[in-house]
Amino acid sequence: MKEFRVYLRALEPEDYLVTSAWRRDEEIQNMVGGTKYFVSKEKERQWIMNTIQDNDRMVLGICLKENDKLIGTVNIQEIDWINRSGHVPILLGDKKEWGKGYASEARFLALKFAFEERGLHRVWGLVLEDNIPSLKLHEKCGFVRGGIFRDSVYKNGCFHNQIYLDLLKKDFDRAYQTYCEETEK
Ligand SMILES: CC(C)(COP(=O)(O)OP(=O)(O)OC[C@H]1O[C@@H](n2cnc3c(N)ncnc32)[C@H](O)[C@@H]1OP(=O)(O)O)[C@@H](O)C(=O)NCCC(=O)NCCS
Repeated sequence: MKEFRVYLRALEPEDYLVTSAWRRDEEIQNMVGGTKYFVSKEKERQWIMNTIQDNDRMVLGICLKENDKLIGTVNIQEIDWINRSGHVPILLGDKKEWGKGYASEARFLALKFAFEERGLHRVWGLVLEDNIPSLKLHEKCGFVRGGIFRDSVYKNGCFHNQIYLDLLKKDFDRAYQTYCEETEK
């Protein structure tokens, strides 16, 4: 049985004190497709409060088991209950923790929840073409590339392509098994 070093939890109101710093980080903002905003601590606090009350999407904190430190968030959102599909974006805000495999663990945990507790059949993602860590992370979880959304994001004075990827439950099950076997060694 694979031992995970991270766990997922619901966000708490005071988490805005941690997440508002991630929101202001230029490097992180340049890796995601979303629009850049100046976000005050108060706006971030309100966003967290709205998120906690929102039953249509889950924004989950990613914490380290060793010290309970909040290092990122992973969401299950834009759920289409009829066709059983959704979007599961991830952000590791604590850059000191990048490259240690924590995002992979958290993504697998969130996907397992989405497929096995929410009954989703398919999950999709949209990644900026030059975000190599995110593309690798998607493919490790079993996502396959479906196409390019050309010039779909305007940021830093120019247009950027995004890669569209999706994942079916059966492909996730295979990727999860491979991941557990490889990381248990
Ligand atoms: C994308 C992100 C979640 C990756 O986090 P991470 O902690 O580096 O992820 P992991 O350590 O689990 O590594 C995932 C894969 O990316 C690879 N990777 C990590 N950093 C890399 C780098 N700088 N260059 C190339 N590959 C890298 C890892 O090797 C791993 O692939 P592998 O298992 O095939 O070797 C993190 O960089 C982040 O939150 N960035 C800002 C927000 C963002 O980009 N979110 C995704 C938007 S679509």
